[in-house]
Amino acid sequence: MNTQELRKIFPILDSKVYGRKLVYFDNAATSQRPLSVVDMMYDLNLHHNANIHRAVHKLSADATDAYENARDAARLFLNAEDRRQIIFTSGTTAAINLVAYSFGSAFVDKDSEIIVGEAEHHSNFVPWQQLALRTGANIKYLRIDDKGYYSLDSLRSLLGPKTKLVCVNHASNVLGLLNPVKEIIQICHQAGVPVLVDGAQGAVHCKVDVQDLDCDFYAFSAHKLFGPTGVGVLYGKTELLEQMPPFLCGGEMVGTVSLEKTTFAPLPMKFEAGTQNFVNAAAISPALELLSNILNDKELDTEFEQLKAYFLEKLRQVPGITLYGDTSQADKKLPIYSFTIEGVHHEDLAILLDKMGVAVRSGQMCAEPLMNHFGVSGMLRASLMQYNTMEEADIFFSALERALEMLK
Ligand SMILES: Cc1ncc(COP(=O)(O)O)c(C=O)c1O
Repeated sequence: MNTQELRKIFPILDSKVYGRKLVYFDNAATSQRPLSVVDMMYDLNLHHNANIHRAVHKLSADATDAYENARDAARLFLNAEDRRQIIFTSGTTAAINLVAYSFGSAFVDKDSEIIVGEAEHHSNFVPWQQLALRTGANIKYLRIDDKGYYSLDSLRSLLGPKTKLVCVNHASNVLGLLNPVKEIIQICHQAGVPVLVDGAQGAVHCKVDVQDLDCDFYAFSAHKLFGPTGVGVLYGKTELLEQMPPFLCGGEMVGTVSLEKTTFAPLPMKFEAGTQNFVNAAAISPALELLSNILNDKELDTEFEQLKAYFLEKLRQVPGITLYGDTSQADKKLPIYSFTIEGVHHEDLAILLDKMGVAVRSGQMCAEPLMNHFGVSGMLRASLMQYNTMEEADIFFSALERALEMLK
């Protein structure tokens, strides 16, 4: 497949905004959705809609099959050992909150320490701060090095007998750098400490293998990798998930319920209370299939590598630009480019770019501690996917030039 063929299954990419060609460079916030995903949601809604796991009738069986097939697709995508380790949530945020609450209830108390990265999205930051507030536990912050990667030396110095969990991202949504998560996990495991990996960005661009990483928890969101909104996956090691109490309680997550006592369903149902977002969850199957095809496609990969190299080179030439996150190792840098430009406010620039049809992200990007680290109030972020083109990059750079002329 080549880029032009890929674009055909994303009709939105041919849209116009304000009468101009849309250039969608806000993929790290949410990717666009292909026809296969939209078609599946349409088909399920129109022809197979019934609540899952409950009834004996045909529609319910169809919907249940679609939902459980998606669990198998997610297991395969992450190379998890067992489908019971795959828990559907409403997204990465919900997955991390589940762990913070449930792992927190089982293992964290006032004498505990949790290590959290300073380059985390608020989703992998605030739940831990809240857990610390509830339990009296102490949070220690893992710093980034000069290039923007988590420092392994800093990690070694923070780990101790009280450490209960380490929480880091696979790749930062601001810096776009792939962290050395495998090494981080090895170091933590040597100290007997489990690791949660926020894969919201990493899962989009890497082939994830949770067995090879040996992570204890891994979370990602479907909407960032061509899937529907409101769906995410939490992978967890069985022995941990089994020791953790339920997060939400209600229908379908129980064994038996009586006036005296409730027992809980086995994994993964223990963590899937109430009616699930089953139509959207089912539609992660075509999304993951497409992503796997894309990641294994040599032609697309070559085109994308050329686009990334071209984009980065042109970005480096923009007068007054500061790029955040190391750009010297192409294999560690995801197509997430955050920058500021001297003398120009990020928001003004984003508004002008929007008027010229170019969608980028601006602001703190849900990573305020990282903004503080760099001493900025916000940044601009252009994030690319395999369906983006050189032509779009050129439109972006001429729009940027025009906007800078207006603002300076
Ligand atoms: C690194 C990272 N973690 C977590 C999240 C939260 O994802 P969601 O809003 O889909 O729950 C995001 C979203 O931008 C992210 O980039």
